[in-house]
Amino acid sequence: MPKVYIKTFGCQMNVHDSEKMVGILRSEGYTEVNNPEDADIVILNTCSVRQKAEQKFFSQLGRIKSLKEKRPGVKIAVAGCIAQQDGVKLLERAPYVDYVIGPQNIPFLQDIIESPSGVVTKENPFIADIDIPAERKDGVRAFVNIMYGCDNFCSYCVVPYTRGREKSRAGDSIINEIRRLAENGYKEVTLLGQNVNSYRSSLNFPGLLREINKINGIERIRFVTSHPKDISDELIYAIRDMEKVCEHIHLPLQSGSTRILGVMNRRYTYGEYLKKIERLRREAPGIAISSDIIAGFPGETDGDHSLTINALKEIEFDGIFAFKFSQRPRTKASGMSGQLSDDIKFERLYEIIKVQNEITEKKNKGLVGTLQEILVEGESEKNNNRLTGRTRTNKVVNIQGRDCLTRGEIIPVKIIKAFRHSLEGELIRSNENVGARHVVPLDI
Ligand code: 5AD
Ligand code: SF4
Repeated sequence: MPKVYIKTFGCQMNVHDSEKMVGILRSEGYTEVNNPEDADIVILNTCSVRQKAEQKFFSQLGRIKSLKEKRPGVKIAVAGCIAQQDGVKLLERAPYVDYVIGPQNIPFLQDIIESPSGVVTKENPFIADIDIPAERKDGVRAFVNIMYGCDNFCSYCVVPYTRGREKSRAGDSIINEIRRLAENGYKEVTLLGQNVNSYRSSLNFPGLLREINKINGIERIRFVTSHPKDISDELIYAIRDMEKVCEHIHLPLQSGSTRILGVMNRRYTYGEYLKKIERLRREAPGIAISSDIIAGFPGETDGDHSLTINALKEIEFDGIFAFKFSQRPRTKASGMSGQLSDDIKFERLYEIIKVQNEITEKKNKGLVGTLQEILVEGESEKNNNRLTGRTRTNKVVNIQGRDCLTRGEIIPVKIIKAFRHSLEGELIRSNENVGARHVVPLDI
């Protein structure tokens, strides 16, 4: 049996693309291995959203090169966003690479690897029409693509160039895939798209949520990512009213300065963003809101940075991902004047993280004593005598008493301790009045 080793860099979209590549190869008789030394084909599924992600890939590629020297028969494929971005240039830099495969060409993987080598980075207008059998390992939580690409062209972002124009999958295909997942025991789906709120088929995004909400067996629906400019009242009501749609939204703010948001081409002001947050919190009390922030965008002044710090304090996100601005090929921002030094970017990033850490910890501490519905995901990484799971608001909870529980169960848990990145909870007895909105009592 031929063997494939696959290493994934970057976002959830890439994680799922890797599941699809393994799915395609599995149907061709391949088995997946955990060590590149054992593989007949090594696939590196790459990310180019920031320079750091690129550097990680190139250092891994250096290691893979020695593999090829030892075993010239092994095939090396570079997939994902760097493949799309660099194309043939990648072969100049790394001539030992056999295949360069852009993310829109994954459906053709089988044909590609049947030829001796190739660079396949054409835009694929039919990407949303081709269903691929993904090989998922989790068994409880699944990623499902609802759309591909992005048309927003935020001035710093490479994604519209690597993943192409926005295309939505047909509602029926999505529903059928999720029905099959439910039949196979999956409990949670995360709908993937760069900008899920601009999903359009015969259904709009809230309409799609309504259909998925009806599927027996699926207990939780999540989605990433939402663009603030496209958050509609209909979506806010969907989160409020549909029992399976989880009370968590990832809503990248990027900057607290309306001037910088303008240069970023985000198409909302800070005031408009704040109004959406207020609406979300009013309609769906307890909703968790997470965000992305970029530190040191070109031309960002101390004053702009202070506005971002103020925004963090005013909004109090449940958590953020913060990044130093990184110049990306072909993007407008990479050529803008006012590029800042790495030192300034680092200083600002450091302050952003410091301020947010305190807020995150405070918010988590506020959950001590509350009862939460947890979907059990498996053993805790740090202590395998405990189980781990997540609240509907996407917070990690480690739970005592693993003996009586299994993965995929939904249980009521009382939060007893809070840390910055996780919570600790204990299982509560079914006869306690849990009072929580979505708790499923468990007899133990
Ligand atoms: N530099 C820094 N961060 C970036 N992101 C996207 N492009 C860049 C860039 N050039 C961040 C944004 C986005 C997240 C996925 O990555 O915050 O929301
Ligand atoms: Fe990039 Fe903006 Fe599209 Fe998100 S919405 S993928 S940040 S261009």
